[in-house]
Amino acid sequence: MTHDDFEGDKVDASTEFCIESSTETSKLLGKGLDIGTANIAAAIQTDDGGVAVSVERNAFLDIKADVYSKNMLTKLKVPYVVHNGNLVVLGQAAFELANIFSRETRRPMCDGLISPSDTDALPMIKLIIQKCLGDPVEPGENCYFSVPAESLDADNNVVYHQGLFEGLLRKMGYNAKAINEAHAVVFSELADSDFTGIGLSFGGGMVNACVSYKTIPALSFSVARGGDWIDKNVAQVLGIKRSKATHIKEQGVDIRDPKNREEEAVAIYYRNLIHYLMENLAMRFAAGQDMPTFPDPIDIVCSGGTTMVKGFIEVFQDEFAKIDFPIPVRRIFRAEEALNSVAKGCLVAAAIGE
Ligand SMILES: Nc1ncnc2c1ncn2[C@@H]1O[C@H](COP(=O)(O)OP(=O)(O)OP(=O)(O)O)[C@@H](O)[C@H]1O
Ligand SMILES: [Mg+2]
Repeated sequence: MTHDDFEGDKVDASTEFCIESSTETSKLLGKGLDIGTANIAAAIQTDDGGVAVSVERNAFLDIKADVYSKNMLTKLKVPYVVHNGNLVVLGQAAFELANIFSRETRRPMCDGLISPSDTDALPMIKLIIQKCLGDPVEPGENCYFSVPAESLDADNNVVYHQGLFEGLLRKMGYNAKAINEAHAVVFSELADSDFTGIGLSFGGGMVNACVSYKTIPALSFSVARGGDWIDKNVAQVLGIKRSKATHIKEQGVDIRDPKNREEEAVAIYYRNLIHYLMENLAMRFAAGQDMPTFPDPIDIVCSGGTTMVKGFIEVFQDEFAKIDFPIPVRRIFRAEEALNSVAKGCLVAAAIGE
């Protein structure tokens, strides 16, 4: 509710006090926003002191603007916007509709970054962000948003991506601040360890890693492989559509115990991805000149949608045991809410002032 709405409602003085004080709290804490290749998630402090996370697929579907399509969307009660003369369905609804009609959704981002060649990407992602994040409680409210680190294995332009979203959020009325995605994972999951340890975010387009010492990031990097990379390779070796490969992967495969040829392919690429990340992490760790000395063994926390497959942590531990990791590790675990962890971490960073 804006201040204008509030005045128009003519409520009594005690209500006014309540709303003013909760507005102050929200302004103080700000909001957290995870801008991911597969999902957009916004974390917002609720009035009772909890955190609400709203997630949308980062996808859209455009449909010809004829009477038949309009009637169909109205009958199915699917909300849409009109863009460049087309009807556009956004987020989760686009994903569901695409499945019903065997179409592929369009995605504004690829491999962790905004698609540079798609002119519809920015206006569409803006609408999806608006849906999740809403307007600022008041102009200038803090919004910490996630950005990937530069990739070790791809020539990507994080600076451009970050600048675009800073501008977009500023135009929405926020005071926008970027935070590295894996650093946000440290903020949401490693409070008990004084924000010291390794945060990993296994997403759709990338895996991001951050080594943090008492909130300070000592090393951040990403690899341009993630859930989409698994899907692409599984689809290729099995000769099936990518969406089918995603479906197989998300429908309860146990990567420790694949049951058929398709699950075997998923398990092989999972193991390969985990090993690849770990090798790079160990190598960067060993080469890091400004690496802090950790007095105690540290925790490694894994987050992101790609960790949600059954057996992920066990395979991770298995692969970890095979390499000679440069420092002692106490615990390897998965974030409780793997899809919300980055958004929540952005909110924590906004609240404590990163
Ligand atoms: N139950 C599941 N089992 C396996 N994988 C899953 C499951 N649910 C979601 N995923 C995968 O998680 C990925 C999306 O994860 P997430 O939302 O963390 O990515 P993102 O933050 O949007 O991407 P990125 O950080 O790379 O830009 C997709 O590849 C999706 O297929
Ligand atoms: Mg992510």
